[in-house]
Amino acid sequence: MAVQIGWRRTRLVLIAVALLIGIAACGGGQKTREQYPVRATPDGPVDAVLVKKLYDMKCALCHGYDGAQQFAGAKDLTQSSMVKAEIITRIGEGKGTMPPHKDVLSAEQIDALADFVLTLR
Ligand code: HEC
Repeated sequence: MAVQIGWRRTRLVLIAVALLIGIAACGGGQKTREQYPVRATPDGPVDAVLVKKLYDMKCALCHGYDGAQQFAGAKDLTQSSMVKAEIITRIGEGKGTMPPHKDVLSAEQIDALADFVLTLR
């Protein structure tokens, strides 16, 4: 019995590894990191690809991938007139149905997201 479970685990791990290699191999058609601008911050470089991924994961649900979606009463980010400092506060503190992000994102990530939000206009 123990041997069987061990083999099942091993098989799962092997499948996971194979999937990961497959995903990595499929990345060929995508832009490489070097084709995106990398911005230097006091805490180190923030990769533009990672910022976009962060936005897609944390913000796009309500604001949409282009910023114009207004799910759950979200403001249209393409029409926003907020300056960067206000955006940083809004991301950190949240408002209404927008959750605060200061405990789940670093100051560096929030700063980079604020710059990204400005590019949506
Ligand atoms: C659960 C839905 C939701 C998520 C997730 C969300 N927001 Fe919001 N966001 C809102 C809502 C609702 C408002 C409007 C708040 C208000 O003014 O009443 C808002 C407002 C904003 C504003 C202010 C726009 C303006 O001009 O008033 C910014 C900037 C913003 N969000 C950025 C973000 C970013 C960046 C993320 C990801 C880190 C994010 N939001 C995640 C719902 C969301």
